[in-house]
Amino acid sequence: QKKSRRQPQKAFFCHRLSNPLQRNSTIHRGRQLGLRPGFSSRYPDRSLFFFNRKPRIPLPQSLTILRTIDEARAFIHAQKQVTLQRRIGIVPTMGALHLGHLSLIDRARSECDCVVTTIYVNPTQFGPNEDLESYPRTLESDLEMLALHGCDAVFVPENVTMYPSGFSTVVTAPAVANELEGVFRPTHFDGVCTVVLKLFNILHATDAYFGLKDFQQFVVLR
Ligand code: PAF
Repeated sequence: QKKSRRQPQKAFFCHRLSNPLQRNSTIHRGRQLGLRPGFSSRYPDRSLFFFNRKPRIPLPQSLTILRTIDEARAFIHAQKQVTLQRRIGIVPTMGALHLGHLSLIDRARSECDCVVTTIYVNPTQFGPNEDLESYPRTLESDLEMLALHGCDAVFVPENVTMYPSGFSTVVTAPAVANELEGVFRPTHFDGVCTVVLKLFNILHATDAYFGLKDFQQFVVLR
């Protein structure tokens, strides 16, 4: 009997999930890239060229979306069950990911066993005259990029999670925060330090990655 040849299927590479956060908390890479179920989600680049090509980059099975502190802690706890020596790297961001962020994620990927990116537009680091509302929010494409760069999980908290009503504890940034940008943005670095400490306390990572573009922020956080 003749073996029936599997017909190549078209990949709907541009298909987008309408609101990824309303879907399962684990986005499977194939679905996320718009591949039809059952198609070669293991090697998405095959779908682009319709050949049996080897994948050019190894990709993870899925990107786990963590929305609450409990979900984040459970995820990290599960990671630490594998072995206590497991290196967990976090890449704190405010989203709108660009090549700079991706280079941090790649670095974390190459050094750590588990990589968690955080996406949170932190209101406390915006001054009264700085437009928090117009800060770019591109979650859908950010999630695609994270999956493609091998990130294991993304922590996407809401304001009420990070700053529940009645929150009152803030971090005062060190003196270096009063110079340069701090002259024009007197509360900015306190907000950055506060949110970063919260992220550290939630995620208990072993490594954290920050870009050098905001060099003063890097020095303050260090
Ligand atoms: O550099 C940023 O994107 C932010 O200041 C940070 C470190 C994620 C804190 O909100």
